[in-house]
Amino acid sequence: MCGIIGVVGSTDTLATLLQGLQRLEYRGYDSAGVALVRAGHTWRARTAEGTESVAALRRECADAPEGYRSGIGHTRWATHGAPEAENAHPHLDCSGHVAIIHNGIIENHTELREELRERGHVFTSVTDTEVVAHLVEELRASGFDLLDAVRHALARVRGAFAIAVMDATEPDVIVAARRISPLVVGTSPGVTYVASDVPAILGRSTAFYAVNDDEIVRLGPEGFRAVDLEGAPVRLRQLQIDWDLETAEKGGFDDFMSKEIAEQPAAVRATLLDRRHRDGAIVFDELRISDQELLDVQRVVLVACGTSLHAAHVAKYAIERWSRLSVEVDIASEYRYRDPIVEIGTLVIGVSQSGETIDTIQAIREAQRRGARVVAISNIVDSSLAREADAVIYTRAGLEVSVASTKAFVAQVAALELLALRLAQLRKTLTPEEIERYVAGLNEVPDHVATVLDRRDDVDAVARQLLDARDYFFIGRHVGYPTALEGALKLKEITYLHAEGYAAGELKHGPLALIEPGVIVVAVTTDPLMHEKILSNVAEVKARGATVIAVATDEDGRIDAVADFVLRVPASDPMFSPMIDIVPLQLLAYSLARGLGRNVDRPRNLAKTVTVE
Ligand code: G6P
Repeated sequence: MCGIIGVVGSTDTLATLLQGLQRLEYRGYDSAGVALVRAGHTWRARTAEGTESVAALRRECADAPEGYRSGIGHTRWATHGAPEAENAHPHLDCSGHVAIIHNGIIENHTELREELRERGHVFTSVTDTEVVAHLVEELRASGFDLLDAVRHALARVRGAFAIAVMDATEPDVIVAARRISPLVVGTSPGVTYVASDVPAILGRSTAFYAVNDDEIVRLGPEGFRAVDLEGAPVRLRQLQIDWDLETAEKGGFDDFMSKEIAEQPAAVRATLLDRRHRDGAIVFDELRISDQELLDVQRVVLVACGTSLHAAHVAKYAIERWSRLSVEVDIASEYRYRDPIVEIGTLVIGVSQSGETIDTIQAIREAQRRGARVVAISNIVDSSLAREADAVIYTRAGLEVSVASTKAFVAQVAALELLALRLAQLRKTLTPEEIERYVAGLNEVPDHVATVLDRRDDVDAVARQLLDARDYFFIGRHVGYPTALEGALKLKEITYLHAEGYAAGELKHGPLALIEPGVIVVAVTTDPLMHEKILSNVAEVKARGATVIAVATDEDGRIDAVADFVLRVPASDPMFSPMIDIVPLQLLAYSLARGLGRNVDRPRNLAKTVTVE
């Protein structure tokens, strides 16, 4: 959620920190801060100006003193304590020498705070983080070096953290540590970096290393060494990072969201690439799970959050239809706490773009604890989810920066449907000819998505006429239902308008009471088998005065007579339609949000990666 960056040994410390923070803004952005540290001196600046915090910090830093070779920086998404400057990180101890940044939540901060207060510590914020600064202060005073001070301090705290700590009495050292929240270390000659995620130090660091849970790293200009909580040395695993800086930039688009919407054909294509063996078998090179294990699967449970949850809903239809396995989909934050049943043969699939969403990680941990085999679907190579699962399939959508997920969704559906086909292939629930036909159909999806993208002017024209609308219902049947859920989510995320997704058949059980003139109903009508039924639902809302936008296939000759606006898409097998039908809905949300003057990449109150429960 929050973003952290640290650097030691740099000749342009402040520029490195500010650039890193700018790239981390999408993780959380109600406030930002930096601390520069050299022998005996800590210089700190913090701002709390919402999505403008990093820009404000840059102005604040215009007068920063020179000569600091090391420092830490943070973008904050408030959990404990209001988004105000005094709660922004870095936090300092009583002496002002120890500076700390933190992503995560210290669960026992209240008792620690009371204990530290009793011993005379003075707190200047209401954050959970500040207790760690004071714990380190005490341990430093009793003679521990910074590494051991942090190590012993962490033995006292419960919760999730990625932290980086500095001390002006031990300059040019950062001690960083992780439990649950993500953390990477980077190196280049003479300079060492730490960050919550790779883009923050991309282009500066030449090698990247993953920090695992309960590992503590001491960074100096010459490199780093890592220990576990007992102080025993551990080796950090080097990561294969093949992104260049350009992938993190907007590439000529106005914003990341429009860039990422446009990248969807490439995202699906890349995800499908190289997945067939010469003998026709569907293969996932990175999947560390045998065919026999897949054959032993009796039941599938998908866990995810947000947009990834909607991709999981689509996968339920595909896996059940093609492989005849029973599938359950659960919200990751619910799964863990409902005493889930894991029988022999239960395969749990955790779906997460970032691979760092804490609820999804905790859900798969619970599943593993109960004996399930776990497959991760992740867009980030070596993400926490990917590392902890028994097996992984990577979507290859590339870096997604916009908070509202777009290309990750279509890539997730593509990967999950391929997995569904693999299960069907192994279980022989589809014939080789059917598998061929479906794989060919999947491979046509990128072209269909590109066709829809070429029609973005049609969507803009509709959006221009609807700028006064305030209430939207998205409806669909079969896989059109998860498409409707995802369309509604996109709209609410970036326009801040009221939008709900419904299974069209559920309309009569409540939402119909809300339909009146001025309400917009967006109907996904592309499934030929469901066509009659969804047209009846459209008639029901039209009769009550709603304005209807239909997403319909090019072949649909009846839709113009019943809908006010029609957004056309190429016809495909219904199972592939969510990847195509979602595109006009993403474009609609985008166009309305721009028309309403919203910040599409950084919607208020939301974060790209939610690393707190
Ligand atoms: C946040 C993001 C969403 C995303 C969800 C799950 O809410 O704003 O766009 O769908 O987290 O993220 P994940 O990385 O697990 O797919």
